[in-house]
Amino acid sequence: MADFLVREARPEDAAGIIAHVKRVADEPNNGLGMSSAADFRFTEAEEIEFIQKAAQADNALMLVAEADGKIIGMAHCGSGERGYAHTASLGITVDRAWRDKGVGTALLEFMIDWCRESPGVHRLELWVFPDNPRALHVYEKLGFQHEGNRRSSYLKDGTFKDLILMGMVFER
Ligand SMILES: CC(C)(COP(=O)(O)OP(=O)(O)OC[C@H]1O[C@@H](n2cnc3c(N)ncnc32)[C@H](O)[C@@H]1OP(=O)(O)O)[C@@H](O)C(=O)NCCC(=O)NCCS
Repeated sequence: MADFLVREARPEDAAGIIAHVKRVADEPNNGLGMSSAADFRFTEAEEIEFIQKAAQADNALMLVAEADGKIIGMAHCGSGERGYAHTASLGITVDRAWRDKGVGTALLEFMIDWCRESPGVHRLELWVFPDNPRALHVYEKLGFQHEGNRRSSYLKDGTFKDLILMGMVFER
């Protein structure tokens, strides 16, 4: 098994997280809403605030995967307001060199366990493009259910793409 660890993000991770997300965003067919790193506009100060907010919330979580002191993956879930405050929506990225080594699974297992125990979260959900088979496989493996297909809902690089909604509900 590859040597990495998964933990909650700390403010000092901000620059490493930004660099990581920009690396993934700059890949062709990156699986993300962003077309390239230019679409990621958080400053380091804003990223620090984002991490601190998640650390204080019972309906948000920011995780990193670290190897040899470098951020090689991240996962975040955050909730909406009022009636959506219990619904956490997730995003996840792993550096290309680290894919298919269990990093994404480890990040999501940590997140699912945390959400299951957190009183602020009743539901965890995500959107995924249908042409992202690796992500779909991991989500299905971990128990997310297909809940719908939002046809032609996202315009990316001149193409209207479908988005699949997947979710899991924590019954207590
Ligand atoms: C999706 C992502 C987070 C998964 O992380 P990862 O570290 O590669 O995932 P893991 O190594 O834990 O698991 C990968 C699994 O997918 C499987 N897989 C790889 N390519 C596949 C394919 N083309 N079709 C189906 N399954 C595939 C692997 O065999 C492995 O299966 P297993 O867990 O049953 O052994 C990562 O690939 C990524 O960051 N992709 C780019 C950004 C992205 O798409 N983010 C998600 C947006 S919704």
